Amino acid sequence: VDVRLDLFAEIERLKKEKNAIILAHYYQEPDIQDVADYIGDSLGLSQQAAKTDADIIVFAGVHFMAETAKILSPQKKVLLPDLKAGCSLADSAPPELFARFKAQYPDHLVISYINCSAGIKALSDIICTSSNAEKIIEAVPKDQPIIFAPDRNLGSYLVKKTGRDMVLWNGACMVHEIFSLEKITKLKVRHPKAKIIAHPECEAPVLAIADFIGSTTGLLKFTQRDDAQEYIVVTETGILHQMQKENPNKTFIPAPPNNACACNDCPHMKLNTLEKLYLCMEYEQPEITMDEALRVAAKRPIDRMLEISA
Ligand code: 13P
Ligand code: SF4
Repeated sequence: VDVRLDLFAEIERLKKEKNAIILAHYYQEPDIQDVADYIGDSLGLSQQAAKTDADIIVFAGVHFMAETAKILSPQKKVLLPDLKAGCSLADSAPPELFARFKAQYPDHLVISYINCSAGIKALSDIICTSSNAEKIIEAVPKDQPIIFAPDRNLGSYLVKKTGRDMVLWNGACMVHEIFSLEKITKLKVRHPKAKIIAHPECEAPVLAIADFIGSTTGLLKFTQRDDAQEYIVVTETGILHQMQKENPNKTFIPAPPNNACACNDCPHMKLNTLEKLYLCMEYEQPEITMDEALRVAAKRPIDRMLEISA
């Protein structure tokens, strides 16, 4: 790359020349969020991917998100700046193992969190995200038993919220499971007026002390309508960029992880950089490609989710 390139200007030029749209998740680095055409949570991003009329979708997020975009918009070219941007939660559910687990519960309906591979989606009945999970579960008849995969923390939270006794797959997000209850409590003692806001991928003891629980979009909207001045934010740090932009007079404190060497940046999300974004737009690779039979099978439960959340 010519280091003298103005990457922001080049990316804008490529967007126009190629009729490309950049969809970014809130956990992306600030520069990427600033060049994106749409920034959102997993539900918002999949809705955008389904309806865009761009020729190229550049997905600034992780693999399962770009794959979901390809499932919904197969005629479009879907690019991911770094193909290695995976997800510990998606990796915690290998399809062959999950198929065997599912076979033990033949009467159960499978609701899967969108943070999973196309292989898991193809084995699922309905997909959900953290912003529509309660609505999706409530749309299922009360006497219908449910398997919820792959996130045990979101699953346990939903069992409490909905009163539905779901069978849970034992997966977790490497970023959200390492927040320290002890350190958050100490931080709260030093900032008694700060509200604790947390993502439901956090473990139950952390969620128990939260003033508000929601998806990334849910957390951001809460900080806009709420009247506190300070927040302890218990999710990946990327979201602080929009929180600070939307609320310049409020203070946002990232919640500490349990180990001084650990970090609450998602290593997968942060594999994407502005340089890689530019290169992938210039050379139109790496591209997401999928087996058509798998794509069709994985689309069915996503379509059900989009119908229920419409
Ligand atoms: P949402 O943005 O849908 O809340 O998802 C959070 C997440 O962990 C994405 O990887
Ligand atoms: Fe996966 Fe967690 Fe990273 Fe989201 S934050 S992409 S759930 S590892």
